[in-house]
Amino acid sequence: MRVLSGIQPTGRFHWGNYFGAIRQYIDLQEGSKQAFYFIANLHALTTVRDPKELKQLTLDAAIDLLALGLDPQKATLFVQSDVPEVSELCWILMTGTPMGLLERCHAYKDKKEKGFSADAGLFTYPVLQAADILAYDSNTVPVGQDQVQHIEVCRDIAGSFNHQFGEVFVLPKAKVLDNSAKVPGIDGEKMSKSYQNTIEIFELPKQMRKKVMRIETDSRPMEDPKDPEGDHLFQLYSLFASEEKQQEMADIYRKGGFGYGTVKKAIADEAESFFADAHSRRAELEKNPHKVEEVLKDGATRARKKAAEVLDRVKTACGI
Ligand code: ADP
Ligand code: TRP
Repeated sequence: MRVLSGIQPTGRFHWGNYFGAIRQYIDLQEGSKQAFYFIANLHALTTVRDPKELKQLTLDAAIDLLALGLDPQKATLFVQSDVPEVSELCWILMTGTPMGLLERCHAYKDKKEKGFSADAGLFTYPVLQAADILAYDSNTVPVGQDQVQHIEVCRDIAGSFNHQFGEVFVLPKAKVLDNSAKVPGIDGEKMSKSYQNTIEIFELPKQMRKKVMRIETDSRPMEDPKDPEGDHLFQLYSLFASEEKQQEMADIYRKGGFGYGTVKKAIADEAESFFADAHSRRAELEKNPHKVEEVLKDGATRARKKAAEVLDRVKTACGI
């Protein structure tokens, strides 16, 4: 069984990315026989148009994932563009993809509805994603809820190719990641690069503390008892603190007589120690960029081997 997923290097990873996606990718590397994870730089090119920035974000994404526990002995990590077979497969798939299918996809639809002009890259984004998945005979694709539509499109494209040319593709299934606890940002809304309310995983501790201290709160008097359920500070604290500490904090909320500053300080303390090992692993990796490049090169070799085999099957089936 092959697990595969991609993550776009469109910004430095934040707490939401970690709890909503990255941590679960890392957990999945344990159980599955083969886990393929890649940095989707071709997809990111639809938004990041500064070459230096895209290169740096791609390398940073690889270093971040390794520092957070992605183990190249257990999972294959590579950069999307290092497997050119995927782009070739993308063209072949595009020839059988109805325009209507892509017109319904939300990224393109949202942009058009807002009156922006979209380019062909954004329009055909889901076909490249389908090629990413199908090129490796992937069975399971862990993704956030927002990506489920793209997996359905992938299944549609693969199904109609198989119908026309024989059983060439493995039909993948989405595994919807548990982000029921959507990580709130510093304004209390969902943490997202697009809302500029993020706290990055590898922010310097001092910087991180400053951001935590700026998290918006309500102005209820200190002495009022408060319900921890649904409170975004308590939600953030719970991501990092042990069960026991969460209980203690919940009791403090219910009693009242505390300031939000105390909770913020506790969040910063817990977050700092939670990511301390990852921070030191990252510092080591930064000193050895060639080591990271080796991992990516090795990952690409493994990924290309599989993609070439699938592409060969595809070409034979359709007469190329
Ligand atoms: P952003 O919203 O910052 O652009 P992405 O869309 O690149 O983030 O998200 C990458 C992954 O991280 C997705 O699988 C998404 O579900 C997850 N994710 C992003 N933000 C959050 C959040 N605030 N809470 C939980 N998961 C999140
Ligand atoms: N579109 C995905 C996102 O924005 C990233 C991605 C690209 C992906 N190709 C993929 C995810 C293939 C899963 C499988 O999050």
